[in-house]
Amino acid sequence: MFITLEGPEGSGKTSHIPYLVEYLREQGHVVFPTREPGGTSISEQVRDILHDLKNAEMHPRTETLLYQAARAQIVEQVIQPRLTAGEIVISDRYFDSTIAYQGYGHQQNLDEVRALVKYATGGLTPDLTILLDLEVEIGLKRKTQNEMEWNRMDAYTVEFHKRVRAGYLEMVKAEPKRWVVVNSDQKWESVQEELKRVIVGRLQVTG
Ligand code: TMP
Repeated sequence: MFITLEGPEGSGKTSHIPYLVEYLREQGHVVFPTREPGGTSISEQVRDILHDLKNAEMHPRTETLLYQAARAQIVEQVIQPRLTAGEIVISDRYFDSTIAYQGYGHQQNLDEVRALVKYATGGLTPDLTILLDLEVEIGLKRKTQNEMEWNRMDAYTVEFHKRVRAGYLEMVKAEPKRWVVVNSDQKWESVQEELKRVIVGRLQVTG
């Protein structure tokens, strides 16, 4: 089973994943956590280029292609082999981030972006995608207040990030079977409980 967590900045995905992994392992599952962009040596190097605040002149098409380069490598080197071995893979972001950020955020042609995503992933689509949803202003404030990493993507305008969130919500509407929305604007423990419930529920359905 391939599970992905998505969401706007500061939605808390990264803080929740280690606890979900631990919980699922206690239940006897073999779970492999990963993140995008990153998760392999090559992909982490591409991440550094993408997120470096010095690269402010990066064109959206360059950005889109670099995310796909990082993704192609992790799909081939990590995600696909683990899924083939029967493991649960949980990824902190995957191709929906490209549709949301590079597609909706940068207002690029969505069909062209989707074609690139398909090329990069070979069509590998998650079984379950959870949107940790949050007002953009609250998420960005969380990032600054908690002194979290502030990268080149965070530095885009609030309008950009609002288009990203609106994009996610449209994607949920278009594919309601794959997506589940969890409100991230509640106590951390409540979000964690809801995430566990959603994932366990889906595991029971798929056996
Ligand atoms: P994060 O590790 O804090 O989630 O940072 C990843 C950043 O990269 C975040 O701003 C979203 C962005 N991103 C894209 O714009 N497109 C993508 O395809 C992916 C995977 C991430």
